[in-house]
Amino acid sequence: MTNQLTNNWAALEQDWVRLESAHLRELFNDNPKRFAQFSASQDDLTIDFSKERIDSKALENLLALAEAAGLESKRDAMFAGERINNTEDRAVLHTALRGERNDGFQVNGEATANIVEPELERFLSFADQVRSGKYTNAQGQAFTDVVNIGIGGSDLGPVMAVRALSEYRDNGPKVHFVSNVDGAHLRDVTKDLDPATTLILVASKTFTTQETMANAQAARIWLATKLSEQDVGANVAALSTNLEATQQFGIANERVFGFWDWVGGRYSLSSAIGLSIALAIGAENFRAFLSGLRDMDQHFKRAPLAQNLPVLLALVGIWRRNIMACSTVALIPYDQRLERFPAYVQQMDMESNGKQVDINGDLVEQATGPIIWGEPGTNAQHSFFQLLHQGTDIVPVDFILSANAGSDLHTQHNILAANCLAQSEALAFGKTADEVRSEMQAQNQAPEKIDKLVPHRTFPGNRPSTSIIHKELSPYSLGRLIALFEHKVFVQGVIWGVNSFDQWGVELGKVLANQIAPLLDKGADLSDLNASTRGLIERINALQK
Ligand code: F6P
Repeated sequence: MTNQLTNNWAALEQDWVRLESAHLRELFNDNPKRFAQFSASQDDLTIDFSKERIDSKALENLLALAEAAGLESKRDAMFAGERINNTEDRAVLHTALRGERNDGFQVNGEATANIVEPELERFLSFADQVRSGKYTNAQGQAFTDVVNIGIGGSDLGPVMAVRALSEYRDNGPKVHFVSNVDGAHLRDVTKDLDPATTLILVASKTFTTQETMANAQAARIWLATKLSEQDVGANVAALSTNLEATQQFGIANERVFGFWDWVGGRYSLSSAIGLSIALAIGAENFRAFLSGLRDMDQHFKRAPLAQNLPVLLALVGIWRRNIMACSTVALIPYDQRLERFPAYVQQMDMESNGKQVDINGDLVEQATGPIIWGEPGTNAQHSFFQLLHQGTDIVPVDFILSANAGSDLHTQHNILAANCLAQSEALAFGKTADEVRSEMQAQNQAPEKIDKLVPHRTFPGNRPSTSIIHKELSPYSLGRLIALFEHKVFVQGVIWGVNSFDQWGVELGKVLANQIAPLLDKGADLSDLNASTRGLIERINALQK
C-alpha cells in the first residue's frame, strides 16, 4: 500500500473515532441539511445516504481515498479496453455492449461496434421473429414457451430482468428458466409445456458448464419425445462465446448468438445472454433497457466523483465494510417485481470482490466484498427485520423504491412506500427507553409491566441505510439500476486493489465434483477419500432406492 493510501485509511479511522459515539439522531438534529448534503441524483434516480453514519469530513476523506486508489485512471482504462482482468489477460468491456458507435469502444484496435451491432441486430430480430410467429418450429407452429437453460451469469440476470419487466411481456411467449442440475428443476419447469412449441435456449459463455450441459442434453431428449430427430434442431438456440462447442452440440450456426471473452459472465445480460429478456419484452423494450445501462455508464464515466452515484454508493459500502467492520449488507427492494434483484447483485458483487489477494497476488490489507443478501419488502419485515432492528449485529441496508406503482392498486403502493420509509427511519432513529416508558404510561399500563417490557420494546437505532429511489420500474430504469450496481462493484474492487473480473474461487469445487461423481456409483473404490466424504457416500449409497 502506498504511503498516501495508508494516510487515507488512517484519516478515515480518525473520522470513526469522532463518529462512532455519535447517534444518527444527533447528526440529524445538528444538521437540518443532511439530506441535501448526503444525497445525489441522476435525472429521476436519487440515492439518499444521509442515514449513514458519516459526516462531511468522512465523505471528503472517502473521496480522497478513491482518488488516491487511482479510480479515475482505472475507470478510464476499463472503458478504453485495457486488459484489466490481468489473471485471464482480458479486457472488460460489457459497457461496449450497450455503447453507441460514437462512444469509440475498441478492443485490440478494432471498433467493438463492428461486431456488437450486427450481433445485437441478429438476436433482436430473432427475438421479434419468434414473438411474431414468423420464426416457427419445423412444422410451422409458433412458439408458446421459451426455456433458458443456464446458470450463474447465464441465468441470474435474465431471470431477474424477465421477472422485473413482466408488465412489458405483452403477447410474447412465456419465458422460463432452468439452472439447477437437480433434475427436478427441468422436470418441474417443463412438466406442463409442449415440447413441440417450446424453444430451448442453451445459455453458457463457455459452453462447458457441467450443469448447463447436463440440462441441455436432457432437454434435447425431452424435445425428441414429441419431435422427430431432424425437427428437434429448430427448437434449440445457443448463446455462447464458444462457437466450436455449440457446433459440436449440433446447434445450427444461424441459431447461435455470440458474444466475446471481454464480457464477464456476471456482466453479460446485455449481450446475447439477454435473448430471453428480448423474447419476453421485444426488441424495442430491450433497446430501452440498453439505453438505461448506457446512461449510467456515461454518468459513471463523466460525473465528478462527489456527484457520481456508483462512486458514492461504493464509498458508503467501503465505510460500512472497512471502517464500521460490517461484514454483510441487506439489499431490500420495495418492489415485488425486483424479487430476484438481490440474488442477481449477490453474484455480481460476491463473485467479483470476494477475493483475498490483490491484483498482484499479495494478501489484501483490508476486508473485501461484503455478504450480500435480501428479499423484497414488505415481506422481509415479517421475517428477518427483527434482527436488523434489535439483533447484536449491525446490518446496513440498501432500500430500493419506485415512486410510482407497478399496478393499478395505488393505495397499496402508498402503503408499500410508507413501509420502506418507516423502516429506514426506525433503523436510524430507533426508540429510546424514555420514549417507550412515556408511551406505556400514557396508555395507563401497570408500572411493573412497564419496567418489564421497556428493554424489549427499546430500539437502539443508529443503524445505517441508503435509499435508492426512482420514478418507476421500466426497461430503461432497470438498465440504469443494474449499471449503478455494476460500477459500484468496480469502484470497490479498485479501492481494495482486487481483480473484480476473475472467479478462481469457483474452480476447486467444479474439479472435485467431477472426481466425486463416478464414486457415487455403487461398488466404487472409496479408500482414497477422506473419512467424512467416504462416510457420506456410504450413507447415500445405503439410503438410495
Ligand atoms: O460459477 C462460475 C461461473 O463461471 C460464473 O462466473 C458464470 O456466470 C457461471 O459459472 C456460468 O458459466 P457459463 O456461462 O460459462 O456456463
